[in-house]
Amino acid sequence: MQILIVGIGALGGTIAARAIRTGLPVRLAARNTDSAEALRRSGLRVSGIGGEVRADAIDVAAVEDYGKGDQFDVILLATKAQDALEIAPHVVGLLAPEGVILPIQNGGLARVLADRLGEDKILGGFSNLGATMVEPGVYEQKNAGHLLIGELAGGVSERVERVARALGRAIEVKVSSNLTGAIWSKLLINCSVTTLGALCSQTMRQYMETEAGKKVFRRTYEEALSVALAIGTRLERLAVEPIPPGWPCNLAAEEHYESWVEAVIAFYGDIKPSMLQDLERGRKTEIDFINGYVVTLGHASGVPVDMNAAITGLVHQIERGVLQPTRDRMNELADQTCERIRGNSI
Ligand SMILES: NC(=O)c1ccc[n+]([C@@H]2O[C@H](COP(=O)([O-])OP(=O)(O)OC[C@H]3O[C@@H](n4cnc5c(N)ncnc54)[C@H](OP(=O)(O)O)[C@@H]3O)[C@@H](O)[C@H]2O)c1
Repeated sequence: MQILIVGIGALGGTIAARAIRTGLPVRLAARNTDSAEALRRSGLRVSGIGGEVRADAIDVAAVEDYGKGDQFDVILLATKAQDALEIAPHVVGLLAPEGVILPIQNGGLARVLADRLGEDKILGGFSNLGATMVEPGVYEQKNAGHLLIGELAGGVSERVERVARALGRAIEVKVSSNLTGAIWSKLLINCSVTTLGALCSQTMRQYMETEAGKKVFRRTYEEALSVALAIGTRLERLAVEPIPPGWPCNLAAEEHYESWVEAVIAFYGDIKPSMLQDLERGRKTEIDFINGYVVTLGHASGVPVDMNAAITGLVHQIERGVLQPTRDRMNELADQTCERIRGNSI
């Protein structure tokens, strides 16, 4: 199985190094000739969980240098979502007849790519494996996580099993028969835990100490959940139940709701949001594939998504340097919710 990994950053570099060391036929695509040349000179080194590996001789080129004569059975997209959206239409031509592209970004990217390029070319996947890039070529694996992959249409196919078997020689890969449900369950958490933490520069545990934080979390999560259910998603249990007790409006279940929130905090509450790290580095975030994706689908299916729209707008403003992440952001968002509710009731 010929494999191309596109995007040799934290995840791509970690997976690539482990794959090369196990003898998988892996070639690498970097953003341009300069970054490819730098990687060729440095090789790849991974430390941390899973043990140390080095790959000194690597087959790497700029993504644009792949073309005629190159054919891959799997193209693993390990760039940020916005770069993957741009690059996928170019690399689809590098697929062998039965080949597939495997995007591993959070959120709506895989579905968007499947709609544009065909479900026969795109698998779904996301990563619970955490890694950081110390510098190009040097990576640290942060946990013993896995890739979860599957067919976007559901079920388990021979091609998914084949990809899982191949990549599973390098890192842990699990197959889901309800990958779209799993993607959405993670997306609900990304929309609320990751993005809200980024907006107010806090962990979930910290922002849930305030009434404003609790209110905004609930509204954000429930809007996204309403969209997921409206488009017919069968949500998959990941770390916690995706549907809170009492949903949609059984007030008697309030104390069960509180326990559910505690379970979410216990699992996700102390993680520094990756989106906050992007904002701190002045990088573009993946907001359009997270809350922005929910907003697009909410508008298309007639589900109110005001909070997610406000959040998406704020993140864009922070990206442009007009605003900064701050704790007060949560109060502003909570006030907006009240204003809107008051406005609606008049
Ligand atoms: N890291 C994690 O622990 C983790 C966990 C779960 C999910 N994810 C998701 O996985 C994806 C990748 O994350 P990451 O942390 O590995 O990001 P990253 O460290 O920023 O790596 C992305 C890499 O893609 C390269 N790239 C950008 N455009 C490219 C192009 N057109 N052709 C080839 N390479 C290109 C970037 O190069 P430049 O440096 O030149 O831009 C960078 O090396 C994201 O969607 C992220 O949300 C990551």
